[in-house]
This record gives sequence, structure tokens and C-alpha cells, in this order.
Amino acid sequence: MTQNNYMKPSITRLNTGGALNKFGASPYFARPVREAIDGVSVAELTERFGSPLFVFSERAIREKAREIRAALGSHYPKVTFGWSYKTNYLDAICAIFHQEGSLAEVVSEMEYQKARRLGVPGENIIFNGPNKSREALRVAAAEGARIHIDHFDEIEDLEAVADALDRELEVAIRLNLDSGIQPQWSRFGFNLESGQALDAVRRIHAGGRMRIVGLHCHIGTFLLEPDAYRVAMEKLVGFGHEIEEAFGYSLRYYDIGGGLPSKSRLKGVYFPPEVAVPPVEAFAEKIAEGLYNALRPGELPELVLETGRAMVDEAGYLITTVNASKRLPDGRRAYVLDAGVNLLYTSTWYNFTIEPDRELQGMNEPAILNGPLCMNIDVIDEAAMLPHMPRGTRLTLSPVGAYNVTQWMQFIEYRPAIVLIDEQGQPHVIREREDLAIMTAPERLPAHLAD
Ligand SMILES: Cc1ncc(COP(=O)(O)O)c(C=O)c1O
Repeated sequence: MTQNNYMKPSITRLNTGGALNKFGASPYFARPVREAIDGVSVAELTERFGSPLFVFSERAIREKAREIRAALGSHYPKVTFGWSYKTNYLDAICAIFHQEGSLAEVVSEMEYQKARRLGVPGENIIFNGPNKSREALRVAAAEGARIHIDHFDEIEDLEAVADALDRELEVAIRLNLDSGIQPQWSRFGFNLESGQALDAVRRIHAGGRMRIVGLHCHIGTFLLEPDAYRVAMEKLVGFGHEIEEAFGYSLRYYDIGGGLPSKSRLKGVYFPPEVAVPPVEAFAEKIAEGLYNALRPGELPELVLETGRAMVDEAGYLITTVNASKRLPDGRRAYVLDAGVNLLYTSTWYNFTIEPDRELQGMNEPAILNGPLCMNIDVIDEAAMLPHMPRGTRLTLSPVGAYNVTQWMQFIEYRPAIVLIDEQGQPHVIREREDLAIMTAPERLPAHLAD
């Protein structure tokens, strides 16, 4: 007969009335516990795939993609999505978005090649970005990609490509414009208000090698003001009409870029995301309002969206383990986690939801969560209200699905495995944990140093 181990009894104070009082977070606020992701236990995930571990939910990705598509589709009948590769270009994640009907939106030759390798045909690729080589432009033009011109030098490059291919190219140009959002993203594309965009069109027209068929703009990221999209849409379409009349073009599409927010907790924003972040429906309404305000009767161009973070952020989790704790001279409790800013680039701007894998006993106190780096900047949260966490406690941080697994860095640690939980609850490794062989594969040791 097995005997149960003795467990020390403890009394947990029950609290009503929410997490905050007028003095800030209550010391007794009970943190939600997360034992599983999509039905797979945190314990099983870390046992099988190690810690730290990125975990993506296929169900959550597909649900969000359909929710956003439905929101836009209920306001405008001709909507296309381009999956913003830079947000998350893991093959498996891109493949889900392509299955959901998205084109690939890429901003570099590497991303272009990655989309092609995944089987995306050139004509289903939107090629944005300020740094396209002439060779990359030649391949993209030959394969029929939608090329969005960023600057005057690119016009010259594309004219050379058109000459080499001996045909007129259909292109779009990227605009930057004042939609009321500060700071204005004026680094990319041609400025509308200064007349630069019109100059670019004049230049393209005078060259006689290209035809403009689309206009693009991307006004920022994590935008909390839906009306900015109405303004941008009106300006984009207004400019489209201007150049159609002046140069005889017939525009097929308007691409309003990305920028919709996810349910992230932006640092410095007092209200939780459920209050601070407008629903996708509010953005869909404003985009459509801008379009209908500006379009002529009977006109129905394609509307393109390149929404990144809003699509994938909430589908991504990072499981990390408490490896040690200490008390700092200023009295604060500090924890050493096995994941830090090396894996969580977005921790600079956002506070994550932190869910331990077990009920924690005791009072909350402000704690600093440090990662594994031997660097002072490796802080994931400066003042998380947490009761004492024993070594080995697993924490699930979310949302982390956007921008982290593309902007992470391999600095003194191997990057961890990434797992996708499919809609049947089966976990699949979609990126292996790095090891010494993977890390050192591109290195070469000159013979005279080999001894
Ligand atoms: C051109 C372009 N499109 C789309 C995106 C995706 O933006 P978000 O993740 O804010 O939706 C970006 C991000 O910077 C971008 O530069």
C-alpha cells in the first residue's frame, strides 16, 4: 500500500473585488494558474520538449484569422490578406495562413525566398521593403510578384529590370501619409503631403517602363485609434483617383498595410488590453468607411490588409522555468528564469501575462523577472506581483506569438524548440532546439588556428 506524503496545511485568504485597489495590486490577488495549453499539460510539454519552450496553438491562429477575415468581409466584398512574414516566418505558421487564404507579404529577399521555398507562387507574393537588390527585383518581377516601390532608386532599378525582361512592369508604390498617428512612419515610401508621391508617379510615367496598378501604405503598428485607418484609406483612394485622371492608370488594389493591435499589455497604458484595445470590428468599420467615402459609384477595387501581430500574437506562449531566486539590496525579490530578452524581443514594449503552473502560497510582492543572460538589461518584468515561487515553477508567458521568434537572438544560449499544438491537441515540433552543431555549422576555422 502506498502512503501519501505529508503536506503542510496552509490557509489561503479568499478575496473578492478584483485585482486592483486604490493602492495598486492587492497583495492577496490570486494569480491565474495555467496547467495546460490547448489541453496539453505544461508538465508534458516541458518533459518532452524542454524548457524554455515556445508553443503555438493552431486552433487559436485559425480562429483569429477567420474572425478578422469575417470582420472585414462583412463590410467590404473584395478583401485579400497578405501574411506579414516578418511577424512570424516559421514555415508551419506561414503554411496555416496560406491555407486560410492569405498571400505572402515579404520585406526582404530572404523572406521572398522563404515564401517561394514553401511553395507560394510569385504572383501570390507582395514584395515590400526598402532594401530590395536589383537581382531580387528581377526574380520577383519575372515571377509576377506584386512589387511595392519604396524610393526613387528602386524606380531606376526596376526600369533596368523591365529592360532586361523586355516588358512593361505592373507595380505599386508605397506612400507615407499623415493619418493623425504620431510618430509618423515617414521613412518608408513616398510622402503624400509634400508632393513627393506625385513626383514619383510622374517619374515612373515619364520612364515609360512601368504601369501603376496599386497603392500601399502602412501607418504604424499596435495602433489604438481606428479612425486613423479611415483617414489613411480616404487619402490613399483620393491619390489613386488623382493619378488615374492625370496619367490614365486604372488601379486594381489599395493595400492599407497592417498595424491592428493584439490583446497585449502595452507598457505605460493603465487600462488592461480588454479595455484599451478596440475590437477588430471597430477597425473594419473605419477602413470600410474610408473606402466608401472615397470610392466612386460602381468602383470596387481589391482591398489588401497585411495584418501581422493581431493575427498571431495571442496564439503564442513561452514556457519558462524558475531556476533561482534571490533578494536584491533594495529589498525586491528577483527570479532567474531560463528565458529572457534573448527570446522575448517584445518585452521592451509589452508586459506579458504570467501564469504559474501551480497555486502559489503566500502574499504577492513586487518581483523582478530576470532572464538567463549575464547582462543587466535582461529583465522581462520589473515589478510583477507574485507570491514566492519555488525553484522549478514553470511560468507561461503570453501573448508572445508576434515578432519574438523572428527577432530573438542567439546570445550565450541555444534557442529553444518551438511546438505547434494542432487542432486535435497533438503537439508537433516545428523548429528544433538549437545545439552546438547547428550553432557552429556556418563557422570556419582557418588552418593556422586549428592547432
Ligand atoms: C509593410 C508592413 N506591412 C505589415 C506589417 C505588419 O504590421 P503589424 O504586425 O503591426 O500588423 C508591417 C510591420 O511593420 C509592415 O512594415
